[in-house]
Formats: sequence, structure tokens, C-alpha cells
Amino acid sequence: MLFDSHAHLDVEEFDEDREELLDKLKESGISYVLNPGVDLETSQNAIKLAAEYPWIYAAVGFYPQHTCDMDEDMFALIEGLAKKPKVKAIGEIGLDYYWNYTPHDVQQYWFRRQIQLAIKLDLPIIIHDREAHGDVKDILVEEKAFEKTRVLMHCYSGSAEFARQLLKLGCYFSIAGPVTYGNNRKAKAVLDVIPLEHMCIETDAPYLTPEPFRGKRNDPSLVGYTARKIAELKGISFEEVAEATCDTAKKFFGID
Ligand code: NI
Repeated sequence: MLFDSHAHLDVEEFDEDREELLDKLKESGISYVLNPGVDLETSQNAIKLAAEYPWIYAAVGFYPQHTCDMDEDMFALIEGLAKKPKVKAIGEIGLDYYWNYTPHDVQQYWFRRQIQLAIKLDLPIIIHDREAHGDVKDILVEEKAFEKTRVLMHCYSGSAEFARQLLKLGCYFSIAGPVTYGNNRKAKAVLDVIPLEHMCIETDAPYLTPEPFRGKRNDPSLVGYTARKIAELKGISFEEVAEATCDTAKKFFGID
């Protein structure tokens, strides 16, 4: 039982062998995959995939760097998509201060608007936060996101101390492939803070491939390597991590 809480199965990296790959995923113990959107087209494609496969779910939204293409018409289209069947979250949304081509104030404006949309539609939120920890937290708090809905930090990359602060607010965290790369001390400190009731696992496929396959294309069948590393660092069994993170993701996204 594994739930990959974040995989971009709709991207062109999977165009050659998508069907074959997805048909085989069950054999790898993958029970569910959540496919987030990063703009209008990918959000539409996520919904299409979710309609084809009973165990795939979708999220819709505009990734921070893509918010430079956003306007009221686009926002209305995203709102329409968010009401479609099997859309279980708004995401991935947030702030990205690593890349510089969308001004911070533009990112922040559409981040707030999409948080407000999630609250209005009673959907949880998937957060992309790159080098913007303080502003992400401040905006989530100001918009009352933790009180009014559920918040998942996708591919959590902050410190143990920041995780502690977010956890106090009721935040959820998704752990990705980088936990299998060097620097285990920081990873262990973060994992020690987050209880399994607030932890999901993900591939972020086709990116962030876990060891020992780093450098190759990632896909949901590899999410078990991340679960195994979490089990090792937390000193518990793989089965416990797999089952608990699956339960947490189902609860987070509201899947029975
Ligand atoms: Ni992503």
C-alpha cells in the first residue's frame, strides 16, 4: 500500500510509455497517485488521467513561476476545473524565490487568490515552497489556511525547527527522493519532528529520482525507496511507513 502524493504523470517525459507504465504500477504496490497541475493545460491533463484510471486523483492550480501568465479569465477557468470530479486539492501553488522571472509580488498575489479559492471550495492545498519559507508561512497564516483547510508542504525542504513551527499550526508534510541523498543528519532531524499522521510520501516524478536511480527518470514505482529510507531513519518498518503515509494521504485528500 503506497500513496504517491505528488507525481506529474501528464508531462511529455511519459508520452512514449505512459500507458504501459501505469498499467504496471499496481504490481509495484502503488495504490494511489495524486497528479498536481502547474498551469491550465497540466491541470486539464491531470483531470483527464484521473478520469481514465480509478486510482489516480488530480489537483489543479498555477505553480508560482507560471503565475506571470495568470489573469482573471485564467483564474475562472481554474475554478471551473477545481469543481470537476476527482479533483482533490488546489496545487501545486506557493512561492519560488530561486527562479527570478516572475516578480515576488505577482507570485504572492496569485498564491493568496488560490488559497482563497481552496478555502471557498473546501479543498486542501499543496504547497510549492522554494527558498521562500518565511513568506509562505506568513501568507498561509494571514489567509487562515491552517484553520480553514488542510495544507501539505510538497517535497519539504525546510529545517527541523521550521517543521516544528508548521506542525504546531496543523501542517502536513510530503517527503520526496532527496531524503535518500547524502546529509542524513538533517533528514533524520526533520523526520523525527514529523509524526506519520502528518507525513505523506511522493516522487515528484519525473524529477527528484531517489537513490539508487538518481539521474534517471523518476516514476511512482520508485516511491518505495523513499519510504524505505524514512523507515531506516525513523527506526521503524517499511510496512508501517507505507501504510501510515497512505492513510495520511487518503485523509488529507479526502479519499475513502
Ligand atoms: Ni511538482
